[in-house]
Amino acid sequence: MKISFKTTSQAPTTCDLLACFAYEGKKPQLPAGVRLASKAAGSFSGEFRALRVHDASAGPAERVLLVGLGKKDDLTVERLRRAAALAVKQAESERCAKLAQWWPGVPASVASAAQLGTAVAEAAVMATYRNDAHKSKPPAPKLKSTVLHGPDADFRRGAKRGEALGEANLFTRDLQNAPGNKLRPRDMATTAQRLARGSERISCKVLTPAAMKELGMGALLSVAAGSSEPPRLIHLTYKPRGRSKGCLAFVGKGLTFDAGGISLKPAARMWDMKFDMSGGAAVLGAFHALAKLDVPFEVHGVVPSSENMPDASATKPGDVVTAMNGKTIEVLNTDAEGRLILCDALAYTVKKIKPDTIIDLATLTGAVVMALGHELSGCFATSTELRDDLIAAGEATQELVWPLPLLDLHKDAMKGDTADLKNIGSSDLGAGSTQGAAFLAHFVEDVEWAHLDIAGTAWGGRDRDYTGGSQGSGVGVRLLMEYLARRS
Ligand code: BES
Ligand code: ZN
Ligand code: ZN
Repeated sequence: MKISFKTTSQAPTTCDLLACFAYEGKKPQLPAGVRLASKAAGSFSGEFRALRVHDASAGPAERVLLVGLGKKDDLTVERLRRAAALAVKQAESERCAKLAQWWPGVPASVASAAQLGTAVAEAAVMATYRNDAHKSKPPAPKLKSTVLHGPDADFRRGAKRGEALGEANLFTRDLQNAPGNKLRPRDMATTAQRLARGSERISCKVLTPAAMKELGMGALLSVAAGSSEPPRLIHLTYKPRGRSKGCLAFVGKGLTFDAGGISLKPAARMWDMKFDMSGGAAVLGAFHALAKLDVPFEVHGVVPSSENMPDASATKPGDVVTAMNGKTIEVLNTDAEGRLILCDALAYTVKKIKPDTIIDLATLTGAVVMALGHELSGCFATSTELRDDLIAAGEATQELVWPLPLLDLHKDAMKGDTADLKNIGSSDLGAGSTQGAAFLAHFVEDVEWAHLDIAGTAWGGRDRDYTGGSQGSGVGVRLLMEYLARRS
């Protein structure tokens, strides 16, 4: 779907469907010259998510879609996203090729016309998502174009940003939903290289097993040992146009399939573990967005990518491996592999990049799904400022983030008997997500760091019209970009 932006001082172009929005108990705001064929519009409830299609008797639109925004006092940015998304979905189901949306004013609960533009544009783009990249004859989308009309040039600027964020989200969802045999570590790497080729400001380096060996990444290599697919470590770099205001690194778990290794997972829903690269997909998605948006930071993306399989050469429970920072690790459960690939990626980031801040994203623990469900990501951070900024970015994007605790006690609990560390703590300690974070904490030295456990939010969230359902959510992309926007 092509998306474009106009102001409400311009008359809506000829379209099949013109979406207009109404508060509960208030009349919808129609553009001048647009008239409905019946007077029934007066009875439209305006309830949040209410929809009604009318024939138009005059004006450039064949039909007019009324979308309810709910009570004026209850309006949120999220409701705007959902309303914009519903209009797109309705246009598709009405088999319309051309949709226009009419957003004449900035609601009181929205900070600016730019924020309105970002919200409705990102949601309009995200609502077009279809998981049909692997179907032989996917039905062609009916909706070809959407024009968003908003108050002014500020709206257009915000909407352009929304378009880039929405597209980056779709890109991430496609990576997540790709089956394990179609998206292997080497495919993650070529995807990253393609991103770099598309932007002058982005470069990409890919480490092969030989380079990993050279650097001493024994933990990452140990996870890949049971697979015929060689691992990759992707390192993307974004350089800002002007002077850099600082250096950040995003690190993402890129397990393209997690069978559990020798500590094999049960068969039921094992296929879900094709989503175990969602952290890495979010990092690549952030670079998809960086290619189109101006950000005044140097940003690095580090994605360790591997399969976790139970071959004869696989790492066995009890094996000891050595990470890049020299620490030895007793692998007591080969299914706690995310922390093993991440610890080398974090050690690499600290040593080679030396960023001001590291944020990692990982589908790390089933325990975070127990604790927080599918609507909130767990957040561990070494500074309250970073924690609070991520929570605020989560609120703004509705990619919600919730703080979880990490004590020195938990860090100590990951110390090993046979080796320096062990990759799982004892079960009587509980707090499984904290244990994962505590293990990672041994690899970040004194760099400011946050760990986002996205095992619940990466897929399986409730339907929110522009995202949700059983497939990948693209979580993390809009969150990271919002965090950067606020930091600048
Ligand atoms: N990829 C899984 C975590 C996961 C589980 C994500 C369910 C999404 C849904 C991870 O590698 C894993 O297997 N973690 C283990 C850790 C345990 C062995 C300490 C887990 O959570 O059970
Ligand atoms: Zn696992
Ligand atoms: Zn995993």
